[in-house]
Amino acid sequence: MTKEELYKSLLQQAQGLLSGESDLFANMANLAALLHQEMGFWWTGFYRVEGEELVLGPFQGPIACTRIAFGRGVCGTAWKEQRPIVVLDVEKFPGHIACSAASRSEIVVPIWHKNKITAVLDIDSKELGTFDETDRKYLEKIASLIYGPQKDIWFAAGCFWGAQKFFKLIDGVDFTEVGFANGQLENPTYEQVYTDTTGHAECVHVRYNPSVVSLKHLAELYFKIIDPLSLNKQGEDEGTRYRTGVFYEDSQDADILKSVFNQVKSSLGVRDMPVELLPLSCFYPADEYHQDYLDKNPNGYCHLNPSIFKLALNVND
Ligand code: SME
Repeated sequence: MTKEELYKSLLQQAQGLLSGESDLFANMANLAALLHQEMGFWWTGFYRVEGEELVLGPFQGPIACTRIAFGRGVCGTAWKEQRPIVVLDVEKFPGHIACSAASRSEIVVPIWHKNKITAVLDIDSKELGTFDETDRKYLEKIASLIYGPQKDIWFAAGCFWGAQKFFKLIDGVDFTEVGFANGQLENPTYEQVYTDTTGHAECVHVRYNPSVVSLKHLAELYFKIIDPLSLNKQGEDEGTRYRTGVFYEDSQDADILKSVFNQVKSSLGVRDMPVELLPLSCFYPADEYHQDYLDKNPNGYCHLNPSIFKLALNVND
């Protein structure tokens, strides 16, 4: 079994194990046990955000330090920089906190709830270089289940700054990040995508709790922030990187999305519209500079009409 296949089956097991249970500690405890047992890690556990510190939560493995300050160690750095961190060799990570001398490599993924980091999942291995992009991808998905079911969807809606601000306001959205989807070049920079030759679309990755907000609803809201009849142009922004589209990873989402697309087409009285509806082929997060851009720069450029944001706040499923 490949690592990807193993994680896919773990993800399913975790979904089953946690469904119907809302107690965070119970969910963290069972997830730590599941991951630890099935993957054979050295240390697997959670640290919870408590004020300015991370405090040890449920774990499996040797005893560990109980408190980690914001910005300290791998865990505190992942929290501060709001990103997952893969450490191939802990000795090469400045400030690494060695709870166990046997630990050689490590991964820390932040857990997002209502657009805030509330905990991290920390895993240590006794071997060097254990963790990679596949671990990052699935551990993020699995860890986020402690708050209930989670799904992912990707919206290309023109300039991603305003689109991210919009989706973050919707109740049930737990995490968003902006990046570049469905192009050819691996790990493109903003500057490369800006040349309009890499094939990527500016896009917002939305992770949401489907028991709070439905995909149908998110897709209907998406159509409120785009001009669905405009090809490669939204507001003043022009180019294939500003094309519109909804990209899914779960093929069952396609039917729900298709019916929303059909509704929109019939209300517009058109047979076709230039909004893509495709499986996600790739997504690369943009630099930190572009994440939450309008929160950091409230007067920054936004192609959306400011009144549209009220819609995201007011609408209930
Ligand atoms: N190595 C972590 C501390 C926690 S232990 O690995 C369990 C860090 O540097 O944050």
